[in-house]
Formats: sequence, structure tokens, C-alpha cells
Amino acid sequence: MPSPILATAAFAALSSFAAATYSSTCSNNMVTYWGQNSWGGSHLNDPANWEKDLAEYCQDDTFDVINLSFVINYNVTGLPVLNHAGHCETKFNGTNTLTCPGIGKDIKTCQANGKKIVLSLGGGGNPTYSLGSSAEGVQFANTVWNMFLGGTHQYRPYGDAVLDGVDLDIESGANGGYAAFIAQLRTYFASASKQYIVSAAPQCVYPDSSLGSTLNTAWIDNNYIQFYNNPCNLVNINNQWNFDYKSWDALAKKNPNPNSKVYVGLPAGPGAAGNGYIELNTLQADLKQLYTNFTSTFGGVMLWDASWYSNNQGYVKGLSSWVKANMQCGATPPTSTTAAPTTTTAAPTTTTAAPTSSAPESTSTTASPTSTVASSTSTTASPTSSSTTTSAPAPTSTSGGGPVAGGSCSSQGAVQCADTSGKNANYFACNNGAWLQLSCGSGTACFSSGSSIYCDWPSA
Ligand SMILES: *[C@@H]1O[C@H](CO)[C@@H](O)[C@H](O)[C@H]1NC(C)=O
Ligand SMILES: *[C@@H]1O[C@H](CO)[C@@H](O)[C@H](O)[C@H]1NC(C)=O
Ligand SMILES: *[C@@H]1O[C@H](CO)[C@@H](O)[C@H](O)[C@H]1NC(C)=O
Ligand SMILES: *[C@@H]1O[C@H](CO)[C@@H](O)[C@H](O)[C@H]1NC(C)=O
Repeated sequence: MPSPILATAAFAALSSFAAATYSSTCSNNMVTYWGQNSWGGSHLNDPANWEKDLAEYCQDDTFDVINLSFVINYNVTGLPVLNHAGHCETKFNGTNTLTCPGIGKDIKTCQANGKKIVLSLGGGGNPTYSLGSSAEGVQFANTVWNMFLGGTHQYRPYGDAVLDGVDLDIESGANGGYAAFIAQLRTYFASASKQYIVSAAPQCVYPDSSLGSTLNTAWIDNNYIQFYNNPCNLVNINNQWNFDYKSWDALAKKNPNPNSKVYVGLPAGPGAAGNGYIELNTLQADLKQLYTNFTSTFGGVMLWDASWYSNNQGYVKGLSSWVKANMQCGATPPTSTTAAPTTTTAAPTTTTAAPTSSAPESTSTTASPTSTVASSTSTTASPTSSSTTTSAPAPTSTSGGGPVAGGSCSSQGAVQCADTSGKNANYFACNNGAWLQLSCGSGTACFSSGSSIYCDWPSA
């Protein structure tokens, strides 16, 4: 055993942690979540392969940002309640708040290796959380700063380890206080010596049902868009009316943070989510398209979750090294994107694996199509089964020459806004020779961009 350990240590000392650290201006960041053991949820009889200690995932350059998931109960009346699956079970006496000195130590190990460790709030399953007003947002920001970030508090779950920011995975509860929450945290960040991250993890259906207007106005560094457990996943990348990446790109460009980035959030293994898992070769081609088309906002890839690292390692490490070799920093796409992954022994290409019952992301996000009915695309897996009417006989053209529902069209997949006012949510997609009428999410409008369209907040 001594020699492999020595070899590992030497490798770590000489190798490229510096090159693999998070950078807010780069497009090759790799993000994952730790603390929910989604692999274990579907492999209850194989505890030896369950999610390892946090520090285990900080020993090589696969990941740059790891998110501790998550704080499941919070509001302004009690101490926040955490859940880290089986990793930490001890509570501060007389409270429901975990005390996890072991995780605190691992956080420092990870940070020493150049990783950012971020606290994730919310999630799915049965958590209860709410921030109903700006006043509550400010109050809870003070609590989070004191318990997890640069402040001081009687109950600090990770001791004196100082986390690198917060992530909002808000899927339920009152949500009127999040913009004030972020603004208040940023007043602390402004006078801090280290760089903090504020991220959000909405579903790819745009706009997000919980964080819609917050994402529009509050300072967000990273948007980890969940392209899984919903119909607008990357499997639909060339299906323009089911794949709304353009809307997220437009959102990031409008964020008050000029460096706001969009991350492609994906399942790390075939059973990690209800759908959205994509075999490596296909995924590389898809990511190349997105990076090339949306270079300035492309931040990298986020994988749910760390427990698949050891159990689907060829895929996870292959993807990470490919992203690092092919996505870059600055605004110019690389001329060559042909570098091979270290391994392409990709796992099975199933995209219909059953949700793992204990994966919070799965439980939370399988609910999303119904909870995000704001967008028509969210309720239907396929354009032909859209709830909008296609059968009504209709004239094939209007006097203005634009498409009408049911009218004939020749270019499969063509899309067009119903009008150019910037106020109308309706648009048309050419499907099997007929225009299908669809609609952007509630409160948004359709905009044209070249031969394509996106949904965004309406013009004033
Ligand atoms: C943190 O975890 C949540 C799930 O709880 C996820 O949606 C989010 O993207 C993660 N954030 C980061 C920074 O990885
Ligand atoms: C507020 O959060 C605490 C946990 O911190 C929880 O016990 C309590 O039920 C929550 N209250 C409401 C109204 O959700
Ligand atoms: C809780 O109280 C018991 C008894 O006083 C003590 O042994 C234990 O260390 C305390 N635990 C924590 C987490 O403070
Ligand atoms: C990227 O741009 C190309 C060329 O305009 C286009 O054909 C393709 O559909 C775009 N892909 C995405 C996912 O936007």
C-alpha cells in the first residue's frame, strides 16, 4: 500500500489542481452535488458503494464546485434544518440543527484543493421552506451569513469552515423574499475578502415557477439548469419548441451580473434522474453546439450527483476531462474540439430509467411538469401530443402572411413568433406539415432571433 499512496500524493502535489479550479469567467467548470447519495437510494443493499465522505470527491480535478445538499427546512422562526442523507446525524443539543464537524474538516480539505463548496437551500421531497417577504429574506440572509458563511453563531453546523456561497434550489414554498435574501447576502460579500458564489438550480422549463422573477432581477452568478426530469431535456436539443436554452441564455445576458452563466445540469448516471441521461458521444456533440452557439454565457456542466462518481466513473471523469479540454475561458470557442475523452466506455444509453425513489432531485423534479405548467412545453413530452389544438380547420394563411394554427408549412421544425410585438406569448412550430400553435410560459412573450425564437419577459 505505501507506494500507491506515495504515488497519489506525488501526483496530487504536482498535478493540475490550479488549472481545475472554478473560474467565474470560464466555460469549463464542473459542478456536482454531495450529500444526498442518490446512487445509494437505488442500491440499498450495496452500502460499500454509497456516497463517500465529501473529501473523497476533492482529490482529483473532476469537480470544481461541490454543493452541499441541502437545507431542507427554513423560515424566519426557527433554526434551519439540514439533511445530508447518512453522512451526519448528530444534532446540537436542544435543536433540530445538525452539527457536522467531520464535514467541516472535509470542506477545508476541499477548499485547500481549490474547490468551491456551496450551501444548497431547498430541494424536493418533503422539505418545508419559505421566505415570503423582503423582510424575511433579509432576516434569513443574516442567519445564513452567521451560521454558514463569514459571520459567527452559537450553532455553526460545519464549525469554523466558511462555505463559498449559496445555491437556491427552490421548488416550493413562499418565494417573495429571495431577491432581498440575495441582496442582503451581497452586502456582506461586498466587504469580504473571498469570492462568494450565488447560484440557482431551476428546471429547464422557462420561466422557473418558483424563482421566475427573482432570476430576472437578483444577482446570480451561476444558473444550473436541470435538463432532466422534464420534457425540455437535451434529448430534445434539436426540437426547437421543446428545448428552450435560448431563453436561459437571454436571461443570463440580462442579469445585473455581467458574468452570469448558464450550466447544463445533467444526471450523472442512468438511474440518477427520471430522464435526461445522455450517452457520452451524443452529449459531447450537444454540448459543443451549446458552447459554440452561446459561448459568452456557457459556464460548464453540473452533474446530479456525486454518488455516481465512483459508480459511473468512466462517464463522469470522461465528461469532466472532455469539458476541460474543449470548453475554455474567455469568449472565443476553441478551434479544435476533437480532443478525446480519457475514456468513452459510457454507460447504457437509457433515458427512461425510473426515478430513484430516494433521490431528492428525482422526487422533486418529477413533479415539475405539473408544477411548472406555466409553459406549454412542460406539460407534453412531444409536440405532437401538445394540448394546443392542431385539428381545427384553419385558413392556410392570414392576410398578413404569418402562420396560423393548422395552416400548412413545409419546413419541419421551423418556429415563428405569432407577432413581433414582444408582448405576445404565442408562437408556431412547423410539425408534420402543419403549424402547431404553442405558447411561452405564463408572463413571458415570444421574441425572434434569426430563424429561431426564445421566450422572455415582455417588452415594456
Ligand atoms: C445543489 O444541490 C441542488 C439540489 O439540492 C442542485 O439543484 C443545485 O444545482 C446544486 N448546486 C450546486 C452549486 O451544485
Ligand atoms: C419553520 O422552520 C422550522 C424549522 O426551522 C419548523 O420546525 C417550523 O415548522 C417552520 N414553520 C413553518 C410555519 O413552516
Ligand atoms: C449534548 O449533551 C450531552 C450531555 O450533556 C453531551 O455529552 C453531548 O456532547 C452534547 N452534544 C452536543 C452535540 O453538544
Ligand atoms: C446552433 O447553431 C446552429 C447554426 O445556427 C443551429 O443549426 C443549431 O440548431 C443551434 N443549436 C442549438 C442547440 O441552439
